[in-house]
Amino acid sequence: MRAKSSTPPGLTSPRPRPGDELELTIDSLAFGGAGVARLDGYVVFVQDGVPGDRVRALVGKSKRAYAEARAIEIVQPSPERIAPAADHPGAPWQVIPYERQLEVKQAQVQDALERIGRLEEFALEPIIPAVERWRYRNKLEYSFGTDRGGRLVCGFHAPGRWDEIVEVSDCLLASESANAARERVVGWCREQGFSAWDRRTGEGLLRNLVVREGRRTGQLVVRLVTAPGTDLDRDGLARAAQPANGVLWSRVPGVAERTGGGETEVIAGADDLEEEIGGMRLRISSEAFFQTNTKMAERLYGLAIEYAGLSGLERVYDLYCGIGTIGLLMAPRAAEVWGLELVPDAIADAISNARLNEVTNARFFAGDVRLALRELVATAGRPDVIVVDPPRAGLSNKVVRRIAEAGPRRIVYVSCNPTTLAPNAAQLVEAGYELRRVRPVDMFPQTPHIECVAELVRV
Ligand SMILES: C[S@@+](CC[C@H](N)C(=O)[O-])C[C@H]1O[C@@H](n2cnc3c(N)ncnc32)[C@H](O)[C@@H]1O
Repeated sequence: MRAKSSTPPGLTSPRPRPGDELELTIDSLAFGGAGVARLDGYVVFVQDGVPGDRVRALVGKSKRAYAEARAIEIVQPSPERIAPAADHPGAPWQVIPYERQLEVKQAQVQDALERIGRLEEFALEPIIPAVERWRYRNKLEYSFGTDRGGRLVCGFHAPGRWDEIVEVSDCLLASESANAARERVVGWCREQGFSAWDRRTGEGLLRNLVVREGRRTGQLVVRLVTAPGTDLDRDGLARAAQPANGVLWSRVPGVAERTGGGETEVIAGADDLEEEIGGMRLRISSEAFFQTNTKMAERLYGLAIEYAGLSGLERVYDLYCGIGTIGLLMAPRAAEVWGLELVPDAIADAISNARLNEVTNARFFAGDVRLALRELVATAGRPDVIVVDPPRAGLSNKVVRRIAEAGPRRIVYVSCNPTTLAPNAAQLVEAGYELRRVRPVDMFPQTPHIECVAELVRV
């Protein structure tokens, strides 16, 4: 049964319903990358629409304040559109000229801080463009599926579709050697007669293929993710993945699309790899977070160091520290560094990374920032500088309160989501800090993702 349509205030026609097709003109881009169109003032977010496009769009969701739709035909392309380099769901902004992508990201950071955070009088420094526009990722997670002819394919979900995989042969976000490793393993899976796991029926074996690469060391770790319950030829998989440094097999239960959790077995080599950043050699284990663009991560961390304004005398907290990268890079410029992170494997990496790089003034602890920050202050003493680099959801109210209680002179906030940075920065301003400057860094060309660094100083 279709939902009953209603006419929101100010709208002359009923709001669109799921399944409706609309002809719309896109006038801007929203956070997250969808095009924004208006119907009598009613907002429709359109996947795959860019400003200036006239599109035919299929409505997916319809709410009182807005609808979500997907462009199914470009009726009149925007004069700004450029030809895509590849059919790649992971690069939805490739049809927008790169300079324009940068302008939009810069404007979205400003918009988030001003409109969501109601912040003003901060300096918004110009976005740092990416060094490489393609083949910049050091980790890709592919999904398996079946094409219309019943053939096993490996690639990415089509936009908005959990049941359709767009096959990739040359993934333009990965290096040539990572692509070659994926192709060898997929070829072996076909030889074995394996089928893709089907989320509807729970049948089939193959779920995902994760290829991670130390871009500066050339080391590769390949991880095949399957449903549990079936055995496979381990030696065959190890041979197919050669010359990878590590070959892993994860068996993950459940219907959710995830590559973590479950049971992971090391089939050959090691479960970690090494990468070089800022002159340091870092060990990264398979469950640990690492920035996916090595060269731009170096720029991002360089900016965090600049904003931290260290003189050599400071006690620095690196919260959400992952494998310790930011803290370890700051350690030579600080008196001491204390890192806190939820994932124990990442903390084990941080501790061995300190040893590997002969850093003697950094200590790392596994714990939830929400629960462990007070204890850290009791153990380590009050910080002079706190660096935070939280996941997309940003900092909870409680963490903001704990940080303000700890009372650092300076806070460096590394954010992968300006829409959560903005309210967090506003809360910190409320707690007695001033937002001095913010600078976006383009870690993810051809995509709408935005990374930025903010400096807050106690007043
Ligand atoms: C964006 S990553 C940053 C990692 C690191 N700073 C880096 O640059 O590689 C966020 C990290 O926060 C960790 N994390 C998520 N929730 C957490 C929590 N409640 N307490 C501590 N760490 C958490 C994640 O495991 C992840 O390593």
